[in-house]
Amino acid sequence: MTASLALWRDRRGRISTLRIVVLAFLALPVVLAAQAFLTAGLGARPINDLIHRTGYWALVFLLVTLAVTPLARVGRLNGLIDVRRMLGVGACVYAGVHILLFVADQMFDLFKVATEIVLRLYLTIGFIALLGLIALAATSTDAMVRRLGSRRWQRLHQLVYGIALLALIHFFQQTKADIWVPTFTAGLFVWLMGYRLLMRWRKGAPGALALLALAALASALVFAAEAIGIGLYYRVSPLLVLQSAFEFDLDMLRPGWLVLGAGLCVVVLQLVQARRQKSRPAPAKPTPSHAVEEAA
Ligand code: HEM
Repeated sequence: MTASLALWRDRRGRISTLRIVVLAFLALPVVLAAQAFLTAGLGARPINDLIHRTGYWALVFLLVTLAVTPLARVGRLNGLIDVRRMLGVGACVYAGVHILLFVADQMFDLFKVATEIVLRLYLTIGFIALLGLIALAATSTDAMVRRLGSRRWQRLHQLVYGIALLALIHFFQQTKADIWVPTFTAGLFVWLMGYRLLMRWRKGAPGALALLALAALASALVFAAEAIGIGLYYRVSPLLVLQSAFEFDLDMLRPGWLVLGAGLCVVVLQLVQARRQKSRPAPAKPTPSHAVEEAA
């Protein structure tokens, strides 16, 4: 099958509402940037502002791409798999624009750009992540899947986990003051990786109890890492920082609570779907010919 540019149509050529929603989501950062531009909201250094916006959204789309598999499994929403590729390529496009803006910010002095990338560790890490994203986007077509073979293709695309980790490190390293957003995104990443480990360990989709344990563990790790990080940086006791996380203030809700909330939402989804499945009439026993098709 040749790749179609009509991205709003599914593999069978039908108009897909899900694809239209995802395309709108992918266009959202452009709309927000245009709105900021028209209302002078890009600040005194518009290119720098756009570098931050594109980097941020590249990471968001990368994490959403990683969230597709768990959401499709837990929510029994297999249709989501159809838009995973679009989201991944979207992340790569935003990362590409991110570096182009960086080049523009350096007045298109490519020697300076290369020197900066070599000398500044956070840029070197960002560059490696970008190369990885380009490799994955370039091999994301059906033709490349056929050429590489499904196993090799899958192994190559497991690089996405390492790429997301590098992008997160890059995010942390360039953050000067408030690490709230990087900590929250890192917590979501921990959950996403934990889900995959659970799938491997249990050789199948985890149940509600396992998902509950995962939500608790991911948020506990975020609380602990944040307390240790802040403790070391400001030379205060991590236990004091941890204690402050339990003083509820909606304006200052610690990222660990949101990671826990996100994990609990998945648990609820799992329970609802399991209940729906139970109340459905059992499917008819497959005839021998159906059984062969299902095994294939
Ligand atoms: C050659 C590759 C890259 C270069 C040169 C680069 C450069 C930069 C620069 C200059 C900043 C702003 C730093 C500051 O103002 O002090 C930044 C921020 C950022 N970059 Fe990159 N980057 C690269 C790749 C990536 C990739 C691949 C991702 C994600 C997939 C990414 C995600 C981010 C994020 C999330 C931020 C912070 C945005 C925010 O402030 O909200 N970058 N990057």
